[in-house]
Parts: sequence; C-alpha cells; structure tokens
Amino acid sequence: MIILDTPIDMHLHLREGKILKDVLPYTQKQFAAAVVMPNLNPPVDNKERLKNYKQEIIENSKDFTPLMTLFMREYSEDELLEMAEEIFSIKLYPAGITTNSENGVKSIEKIYPVLEIMEELDIPLSVHGESDGFVLDREREFKVVYEKLARDFPKLKIIMEHVGVADLLYLLDEYENLYATVTLHHLLLTLDDVVGGVLNPHYFCKPILKTPKDREEIQKFVKKHPKIMFGSDSAPHPIKNKLKGAAGIFSAPVILPALAEFFDGDIESFQKFISNNARKNFNIDVPKKEVKLVEEEWIAPYMVGDIKPMWAGKKFKFKVL
Ligand code: DOR
Ligand code: ZN
Repeated sequence: MIILDTPIDMHLHLREGKILKDVLPYTQKQFAAAVVMPNLNPPVDNKERLKNYKQEIIENSKDFTPLMTLFMREYSEDELLEMAEEIFSIKLYPAGITTNSENGVKSIEKIYPVLEIMEELDIPLSVHGESDGFVLDREREFKVVYEKLARDFPKLKIIMEHVGVADLLYLLDEYENLYATVTLHHLLLTLDDVVGGVLNPHYFCKPILKTPKDREEIQKFVKKHPKIMFGSDSAPHPIKNKLKGAAGIFSAPVILPALAEFFDGDIESFQKFISNNARKNFNIDVPKKEVKLVEEEWIAPYMVGDIKPMWAGKKFKFKVL
C-alpha cells in the first residue's frame, strides 16, 4: 500500500455548475487541496465572483480545501488588499492564448504596477507561459519573458505553469523566485498521442504535448527538483466541444494511479512532487489528509458526465481507496 500525506494539485480547472459537480469528486477523493483556475466565463476577477465561486466549491465537496486564484487584470491596490487573504495567486494568461483567455494580458508592461503590489503583498504570480509563435516553440520563446519578470520582480514568487520543455526547468536554479508545475500529461504523453496515429482530440491541450526527448528530460527533473510541483491542469470539456477543437485534457480521475506507476516504488520522490514541494515552497497549510493506494487492478472511467477522461478504460495497477 502507498500512503500519501496531504496531496495537493497546484493547477486545476473545475468550471462551474453541472461540470463542477461531475468532476470535483475525483479531485476530492485524491487530493487534500487544489489551486483552482479562474478562467471562467466571465472570469473570476472581483471579490463577489471569488466569494461565490469558492462557496460553490465548498458546497460540493468535503475534506477539501480550494486555493483560489484571480484572473489577471489591472487591479488597484485597494482591490488587492481586499482580496489578498482569500487568494493563493493571480493567474496571468497572455490574451487569446487558450480557453477563455480573450480578456487576458495584451502587454505585460501594463500590469507592472499590479506586479509591484503583488510583490509587496506577497501574492504569487501563476503564468501560462506561451508566446504567439509557432505552436511547438511557444514555451521556449516565452523563456525570455520569465527571465525578465524574475529579474524585474526579485521578491515576487512566479510559477511557470504546466511546463512541457526542460529549457524552462533549468531556470529554476538560476532564479530563486521561479517555480514550476508539471502536469500528468506532459509527464507521460507526447505529441504522438495526439497526431501520431488516428487523430485524438482528447489529448489536444495548451501548451501542446511535446517530443519524447522533452518528456524524458521532464521525467528526470520531476524525480529530483524541489521547486517542481504537481499541477494537473485537468481541464474538462464536454465531448461535443472537444470535437470542435477545445483545448484541455480531463486527467483528474487517473492522476494518482498513473503517478504511482510512474514513480514505481520511489515513494519519497512521489510524496515530494505531490505535496511537500508545494507546501514548503509556498507555506501552504491545509488540514492533513491521508490518501491510500492499494496494489489492485483498477479501470479508469469511460465517461464522467459528458466528459471523456484521459486514459478512459485503461487498466492501472493501483487503485485509490
Ligand atoms: O489545455 C488547456 N486547457 N490549457 C489551458 O491553458 C486552459 C485549459 C482549459 O481551461 O480548458
Ligand atoms: Zn490550466
């Protein structure tokens, strides 16, 4: 049996209403807490919306702590002072780069005053780091932006989200204030899973999956680096939207069984990646929750509501109790 202490998902999309009700039980079963993304329509970018969204999550879960985020815009100091206690971070989406990011940031210079206030108030910055270049180069091209932000705001904690290329992970040792999350899909899949055989829209996500070499490098980093944290980026979309091209992989149901196979007995590294690194790096203090996995065959669900999960129907060696 594997016993995990207080697993935390550092990057999660729950949506609202029916989808939230359908998907939240899978995260609640496997995690003590999760950092919940704000890219709803309209986005979570004011006190009222933040309060109501948190309430909806709490009403639909138990033994689970939502760590809330705000969608980046030009906030005033008074607004941030009012909400600072209620949020884990503010999420920067470059405008138009992914789902519901049309009202994202058009020019990073414009939000410099907000970043100054965040630095002062000790509010971390979560970043969807992609340029608007060629799809496979977007993360690498964003590297200079991360470096500039890290230099211009040395006290601001910056999380490079869902990293799919190792070039960015090398920055972790160069800049004290940079951190990273890695998803299940960037850790275990490649672009071949999307377009290598029959086109698989269910594995289409942003940032796009990368090469076997990128995956191999990320796998090595994840097993050893204390600034890398698990963030699933589980992003549910109803099947009909996926078939119209929506980006996002709904991985929540299979996370711990898949990671248990990946870590293959190295429970110390598993525990660090799934919880300790996040708790240490960000002083996250949530109620303790033990999650147990037993070595027993388990088959991933084929459908969850109208959503097809990652690895639907696949057999795993571990089952979450
Ligand atoms: O694939 C993705 N889906 N990437 C994102 O950045 C957003 C997410 C979503 O919200 O669906
Ligand atoms: Zn995301």
